[in-house]
Amino acid sequence: MILSNISLLGAIAAGCLLYYVGTIIYNVFFHPLAKFPGPWWAGASSYAEAYFDIVKGGRYFKKVEAMHARYDARREIDTSLARLSGAPTSVISTVEHDHHKVRRMPLLPFFSKQSIAKLEPFIWSRVNLLVAKLRQALHTGETVELIDGYGAITTDVISRYAYGESFDYLGKDSDMSFKNDYLHAINVILGLPQWALQFMHPGFTAANDLRRWCTENALKALQATQSGIETPSTKPKTIFETLLGPDMPPEEKTLERMTDESFLIVGAGLETTSRFLTNTTTHLLLNPDCLSKLRAELKVAMPTPDYCPPCSVLENLPYLSAVVAEGLRCETILVNRFSRKILEPLPYKGFVIPAGVFPEPEKFRPERWIEAREQGINLNKYLATFVKGGRMCLGINLAYTELYLTLAAIFRNFDMELVDSGLENITSTRGFTFGFTDSYDWGVKIRLIKALE
Ligand SMILES: *[C@@H]1O[C@H](CO)[C@@H](O)[C@H](O)[C@H]1NC(C)=O
Ligand SMILES: *[C@@H]1O[C@H](CO)[C@@H](O)[C@H](O)[C@H]1NC(C)=O
Repeated sequence: MILSNISLLGAIAAGCLLYYVGTIIYNVFFHPLAKFPGPWWAGASSYAEAYFDIVKGGRYFKKVEAMHARYDARREIDTSLARLSGAPTSVISTVEHDHHKVRRMPLLPFFSKQSIAKLEPFIWSRVNLLVAKLRQALHTGETVELIDGYGAITTDVISRYAYGESFDYLGKDSDMSFKNDYLHAINVILGLPQWALQFMHPGFTAANDLRRWCTENALKALQATQSGIETPSTKPKTIFETLLGPDMPPEEKTLERMTDESFLIVGAGLETTSRFLTNTTTHLLLNPDCLSKLRAELKVAMPTPDYCPPCSVLENLPYLSAVVAEGLRCETILVNRFSRKILEPLPYKGFVIPAGVFPEPEKFRPERWIEAREQGINLNKYLATFVKGGRMCLGINLAYTELYLTLAAIFRNFDMELVDSGLENITSTRGFTFGFTDSYDWGVKIRLIKALE
């Protein structure tokens, strides 16, 4: 009996080994992409990726850059990567085209320009709270971790918008340490089971709490609609009501889906926006010429520092909109590769990609947008920060509103300086979905110098 168990185990092990070796041989010699130039080990399996990311600490994206430079080609195949968002049944992880559309369409009105415009007074109130906190820091002379301040504002906004209830990071604390556990924890979630996360790092519990919170609220919303208690409102108020709305097919209204979707929306709403704001603020502080042009423009549009113009006015300011566009162009928030599934044969080498659309790509230079506009060139069509087409970021309108309001208010209100920080603190050299520096950090510190009149 024991013997046969052992030989069974042996047979299973041999079978697995054969399978792995077979897959590698297939990938290296017979896979449709096998002829693409590149080192054999990169196409053979995902173990190389695991080695560079786990053993070397988030360096695979750098390796990929080097391979692309050397071989001038790409071969990347893995749709299973889509599951790694930590929310496998959410829109963003849905691989199949038509299914993606079914899940995405009902969410569009929730994120439309009109819906976001209604949120503007709330966003202004949060921006003003941040300004008030920065005033406090000006008096005490404390330094501020920008990413925490911006993280607090974006968390407050997205939680209020998606769940109808703001987590109130800016309202609660009286000190300057907007400690935003979700923000820090969400960086590192990779869809691992809860026990594993807790075992690895106590900080993960914050993200798990958020996920549990999503499940509970999704369950409440589900039960309410099932028992028909909820008065049917014509306008969806929260993401849960939208997910349970008439446009979503019944098979999509599961607890798992609602948890995944609502969890992902918060995650997608905070880190991206707060990193953009940090990056753009840093670039402005490093480029005093740009900053003074921006200030001059803001002073006219906002006669007093506490003046809150509508976003539509801010969007039409030539220099501010150039700063936002340039900030978005510079941005490389997600350093992992976006997987693409090709539906039909696609000629590759025959394509001519126009060169020189953005000369000096590494340089922060808002003027490029203004010069292009004067020459009647529309550079916007080359800006793909939010991705384009059917997979475009759902939160684009919300993001723009947050970016315009926050940047306008911060630079209209304060003169500030970087403390012990520079480009090196926002340049990513390690990639774990989000980018980090060599010391596994990301972000800058500022000190407020004076309040502007
Ligand atoms: C911030 O800006 C730097 C310099 O332009 C860029 O290398 C980096 O990728 C940016 N980081 C993010 C997260 O956008
Ligand atoms: C910025 O990077 C430098 C060099 O790595 C480091 O000494 C400094 O502490 C960093 N600043 C912040 C605010 O993390």
